Amino acid sequence: MNRPLIATLLAISSLLCQGAGRQVRHLDGDWFFIKGDNRPEAASLQWQRVTVPHDWAVAGPFDLNEDQQFVKVIEDGETEARLRTGRTGALPSTGIGWYRRNINIPAADKGNRVVLEFDGVMSNARVYVNGQLAGERPYGYVSFNVDITPFVSFGGDNLVEVRAENPPEMSRFYTGAGIYRPVRLVTTGTTRIAPWGIAVTTPRVTQREATVSIVTTVDSPDNATLTVTHDILDPDGNRVASAKKKITRSGDVAASCKVRDPRLWSPATPSLYSVVTRVYRGAELVDSVTTVTGIRTIKFDNNLGFFLNGEPTKIKGVCLHHDLGPLGAAVNRTATRRQLVMMKTMGANAVRTAHNPPSLELLELCDSLGLMVQLEAFDEWREPKCVNGYSSIFDRWAERDLTDIIMRDRNHPSIIMWSIGNEVREQNMPDGGETARFLAGIARRTDPSRPVTAAFNHHDGAMANGLADAVDLVGFNYKPNDYASRHEAHPEYVIYGSETSSAVSSRGCYHFPVYDNWNPWHEDYQTSSYDMEYVPWGSAPDTEFQRQEENSFCLGEFVWTGFDYLGEPAPYGEGAPSRSSYFGIVDLAGFPKDRYYLYQSHWGDGPVLHVMPHWNWPDRIGQQVPVQCYTTWPEVELIVNGESKGTRRKNPDDKFLLYRMRWDDVVYQPGEIKVVARDENGNIADERVIRTAGTPARIELLPEQTTVKADGKDLAFIEARVTDSEGNLCPRAASLLFVKVKGGELKALCNGDATDLTSFSSNYMKTFNGRMIIIVEPSATPGPITVQVSGERLGTTTCVVKSQE
Ligand code: GAL
Repeated sequence: MNRPLIATLLAISSLLCQGAGRQVRHLDGDWFFIKGDNRPEAASLQWQRVTVPHDWAVAGPFDLNEDQQFVKVIEDGETEARLRTGRTGALPSTGIGWYRRNINIPAADKGNRVVLEFDGVMSNARVYVNGQLAGERPYGYVSFNVDITPFVSFGGDNLVEVRAENPPEMSRFYTGAGIYRPVRLVTTGTTRIAPWGIAVTTPRVTQREATVSIVTTVDSPDNATLTVTHDILDPDGNRVASAKKKITRSGDVAASCKVRDPRLWSPATPSLYSVVTRVYRGAELVDSVTTVTGIRTIKFDNNLGFFLNGEPTKIKGVCLHHDLGPLGAAVNRTATRRQLVMMKTMGANAVRTAHNPPSLELLELCDSLGLMVQLEAFDEWREPKCVNGYSSIFDRWAERDLTDIIMRDRNHPSIIMWSIGNEVREQNMPDGGETARFLAGIARRTDPSRPVTAAFNHHDGAMANGLADAVDLVGFNYKPNDYASRHEAHPEYVIYGSETSSAVSSRGCYHFPVYDNWNPWHEDYQTSSYDMEYVPWGSAPDTEFQRQEENSFCLGEFVWTGFDYLGEPAPYGEGAPSRSSYFGIVDLAGFPKDRYYLYQSHWGDGPVLHVMPHWNWPDRIGQQVPVQCYTTWPEVELIVNGESKGTRRKNPDDKFLLYRMRWDDVVYQPGEIKVVARDENGNIADERVIRTAGTPARIELLPEQTTVKADGKDLAFIEARVTDSEGNLCPRAASLLFVKVKGGELKALCNGDATDLTSFSSNYMKTFNGRMIIIVEPSATPGPITVQVSGERLGTTTCVVKSQE
């Protein structure tokens, strides 16, 4: 056994008791990792000590030769195969990796059941305990439990090893690699609440009273008589209802209780109740589980749209991939929260987990922040999009995977629909309807309380082959111009935009001339932030807004995408340096692009006044530089270098005037642009000024939070920006910045530039259009974290973030 492993023999991560008889240990520390398929016994190998969640690929290095794919993407309308670089992020995510750690299991646990809970291993996980194969799970996004009781040595150390393998060409986007979601060790008696064995629904809800129904699956090997009790706690922790049932053998036991004056869950009031379930044998408490849930009603109407708690509600949703940009797929609650809070602040009320089941962290945050969720299971069924994609395991695993996905997550109030697939190729195949009925049947059996949906880019094919009939909600991907006609032809379908827009933009980049561009390509491998560029199958955000407003039956939309993600760098990727997407409303570093304010002005509560572009165009002196503005105010005047360029109001004559204001004929001279907004009465309500910045002179550091938790999990996000001597952002600065951290670990740098191949784990990086994010992990000991950033001719700037208990 090698030395680091000896050092961990007795190490056990945080221990948490869920209830008598049940112990949950979080296994985040003390793992060792090695890349390659070397047998783990090889003690001489250099194992790397890691913390789980861990993504072995995200530290890079970037290499455009990684996972190159030569494919014809039928979904994108391609008729010939072509080379794809950066499609899965140009990071070393393919291959095999091994994890190992010791777990001490006390002798006192003999006779108990010991289960390893994996929230997600990417992918083809094989779990060994003391050298024996204890379980396996190919789908990298699904959570799974491995009962390791028969393999455990009680009263000593147990070696747990996990082998993960990502074949090449298994995905259309970055998957991450390894044990990228948490792992827990759960010990219970043999009489226990089964894993994911509680289903809470609210079959009847009125303002005055809610019926809460709880079905509990109990494992009782000796068929003893047991009592199952439930206490319902309101959002303040007060017990508001209880129920008690007897059960005399293994199986389901149903109970129901009434909650008076329920506090309904919604995005505006995300009230959460807890159901505390206990199982007694006589007076002895043998198991206990707390389920956090909510009380709310959902209704989907083919003519009237979506109702939440009886209120008509338009879905203002964003699609999100699971990666966290420079942190890769390794889930982190703080980083996930940061994304979701940004989406919520923009006015979004929903998230689609494209195209796979999400982390528990994301769902818990959506529950508590108030974001509705479309949870999607698959991107492929039997027909492959990628040679080694999900289709290769569909027949063997789809039923089990979909059942487990829904069982794990069915109590989250945020989830309002289950999606069984995105753009599956079966849309155009005769057996598409049959497969859809098979999956929809599983979903309805496992959770009768939510509708089933699928996202169609070939909506007509899906309507013709019965696939659309098999689902309750018919999602259209990129078909805003068809909502009205298909609704007329098929009034029975409940229709919505399951994936919309696919506009592309690079933060702070503007290309000229400015026009409605459905097929952009620029020499700098960037895309224009005037937000009028999109991929051939997509549309500008404005088009979707307009169609949603015209078609009130449509439930709403899920924009592609809320955040940039690793991989799929359309419109580039055929030998371009790009390795991450341009679709995000927010860039990979977490900086809002201009588009953020377009959505905020249309979706949010306002007020919004945002002007673009920046005003540093030494290469365009005397040439046109159009100015545009996103606002909630009715009237805006543009003043350039002291001279009015006229007042604008939104104008229904043109979709590009309906949600934005434009001054196309502005001729550039350095100086300043100012927009002055007026309210309905003509009074000045707000203004914004952008000045031409001078030479980069210094670095400003803007921590997003002043304190963080010293728990080894929290993160500090600090923006570094390059300014001139007067504090104006230098909007084109590509300054190389060096970062040093004391009192914590520099976790990642990211500038939001999809073409930058500097490793996220480097301690230096260029700013992209003047900005960069620094992500720091506090050490476990509280104290000041000092971040010091230097750049040539920019001096050194230091900031301090406090980490505390
Ligand atoms: C859709 C697909 C998404 C993404 C998007 C890009 O067709 O469902 O996963 O590829 O196109 O526009």
